[in-house]
Amino acid sequence: MKNLFSPLQLRGITLKNRIALSPMQQYSASNGIPNNWHLVHLSSRAVGGAGLIITECTAVSPEGMNTLYDTGLWNNEQVEAWKPIVNFVHEQGAKIAVQLWHSGGKGSHKHPNEGMKPLPLSEGGWQVKSASATEMGGVIPQELSREEIQKVISDFVSSAKRAVEAGFDSIELHAGHGYLFHQFYSAVINKRDDEYGGDFKNRIRLLIEIVQQIRKVIPESMPLLARISAVDYLEQKEAWQLSDSIKLSKILKENGVDLITASGGGFAHVDKSKVFPNYQLPFATAIKEEAQVLTGAVGMITTPNQANEIVLADKADLVVIAREHLRDPYFAIHSAQQLGIENEVPWQYKRGF
Ligand SMILES: Cc1cc2nc3c(=O)[nH]c(=O)nc-3n(C[C@H](O)[C@H](O)[C@H](O)COP(=O)(O)O)c2cc1C
Repeated sequence: MKNLFSPLQLRGITLKNRIALSPMQQYSASNGIPNNWHLVHLSSRAVGGAGLIITECTAVSPEGMNTLYDTGLWNNEQVEAWKPIVNFVHEQGAKIAVQLWHSGGKGSHKHPNEGMKPLPLSEGGWQVKSASATEMGGVIPQELSREEIQKVISDFVSSAKRAVEAGFDSIELHAGHGYLFHQFYSAVINKRDDEYGGDFKNRIRLLIEIVQQIRKVIPESMPLLARISAVDYLEQKEAWQLSDSIKLSKILKENGVDLITASGGGFAHVDKSKVFPNYQLPFATAIKEEAQVLTGAVGMITTPNQANEIVLADKADLVVIAREHLRDPYFAIHSAQQLGIENEVPWQYKRGF
């Protein structure tokens, strides 16, 4: 029977267990270049036993950033800076995926330590653009022209090539949390009347075209992952629903996406009453069962038993842990110990465990 420490095959790669470090923005880069902070943050969780390390959302272009402190993958300097991080994670027996992303209308914000307010043009900010000129967090973005959409597509493709060059094992597209892909597929934001707006098929077009283009430039053996917002958590009748996510997931799978992590929200604050242990797990389970695709569960998964139960009950294939990994970089090693499952500890640390 499978458990949290059973390997997981994703196309040509095998994860040594079912625990992933969830992507978490560190707001610690400059010019999109990862540095020692990113090396230590990502490597610590690899030393701590997670089978898959997923980088923070990494912009495909300067205008795709959310703040000036995000990581990027649009030039060679960034590729070279990612390489030692990728190599170190590999030395720990873990795999590493880069989460590629464009923040769209949520771009040009200040650092969280400065309150994460919109960054004005006069202070180095930029004109943000989205599917439509729909207000988002007090900002009205400009609508992307069709030519600009083509640039977004080619930026994703170039970054995907760079991800291969940097040695990443996988790419995850960040298609949730109110960022650009989500701004297109949710009718709450997308009010376009061209082929990228309107009905479901048109609203998911940008994401699907990018998936198709990326699959052409990455090795057949390289898994492609996607994170989606399974629901908008909004009351409007045009809000994105789980049934839409199931439809989308089927199409993503047909186009070569290997695993989908089901997150949620991104356009408004999610009511606290909706956030509790495993609150998003039912989305991952429904997508897994109905779309017949591997899924990742994320959201308030904090204990070894809770994580193991998800795999034992086959409710999701990968357990994606964010904040608990901030508290305990050794979550995976500690989980194996608590669950009484045999697991490797780095030889340098064996005397401590
Ligand atoms: C500091 C921080 C930064 C985050 N940055 C990202 C990100 O870059 N990409 C992403 O998909 N989710 C991001 N998230 C969301 C987490 O990956 C995760 O989905 C969320 O925290 C819920 O999981 P948890 O309860 O295990 O923390 C971030 C969360 C935190 C706390």
